[in-house]
Amino acid sequence: MSQIQVHDKYFKPYIDENTLQERITAIAAQLSEDYKGKKPLFVAILNGSFMFAADLFKRMTIDVELCFIKLASYKGTKSTGNVITAIGMDTDIFSRDVIIIEDIVDTGKTLSEFLPQLEHQQPASLSIVSLLHKPDATVFPIDIKYLGFSIPNKFVVGYGLDYDGLGRNLPAIYQLA
Ligand code: XMP
Ligand code: MG
Repeated sequence: MSQIQVHDKYFKPYIDENTLQERITAIAAQLSEDYKGKKPLFVAILNGSFMFAADLFKRMTIDVELCFIKLASYKGTKSTGNVITAIGMDTDIFSRDVIIIEDIVDTGKTLSEFLPQLEHQQPASLSIVSLLHKPDATVFPIDIKYLGFSIPNKFVVGYGLDYDGLGRNLPAIYQLA
């Protein structure tokens, strides 16, 4: 893998496809074990998590449901600090075992605003899966129960993550060069 250009910026290979897929397989195995006998509901946060959610979902070996919501806080490579709900929940989560699927937790703002809304609806349980976490960027601490990779505070694209709309189709993760 070599350096790539997205819009005006250059990105270098950071997490390759095999490494991503191996980690996702391990998380799916762990979730399938931890939720055995339950029928959890994945709530995947669009747009960034769609690829991760799909790969994780198809590796689940227990009964599991899936729905999507759309939240956004980013413009370009910076968080705007405002979380907008563009598509809301269409599924009743009362007394369900809910598993939030995120692509990345950066400042934690998105989830810190969204989680109370979900808790208000009284799910039986609520846990968070995130492919990536930038601990050095944390402003609002989030309890990520299942984490793919902890990464430095540098902008990344690929595997669902975008820089102003582009880069989502890359099968691996790239870091700002
Ligand atoms: P917060 O700060 O609310 O951010 O935890 C979470 C959301 O911000 C987006 N995000 C990124 N998107 N590369 C991206 O393509 C990044 O490095 C990055 N950091 C944060 C993402 O949508 C996430 O859900
Ligand atoms: Mg996102």
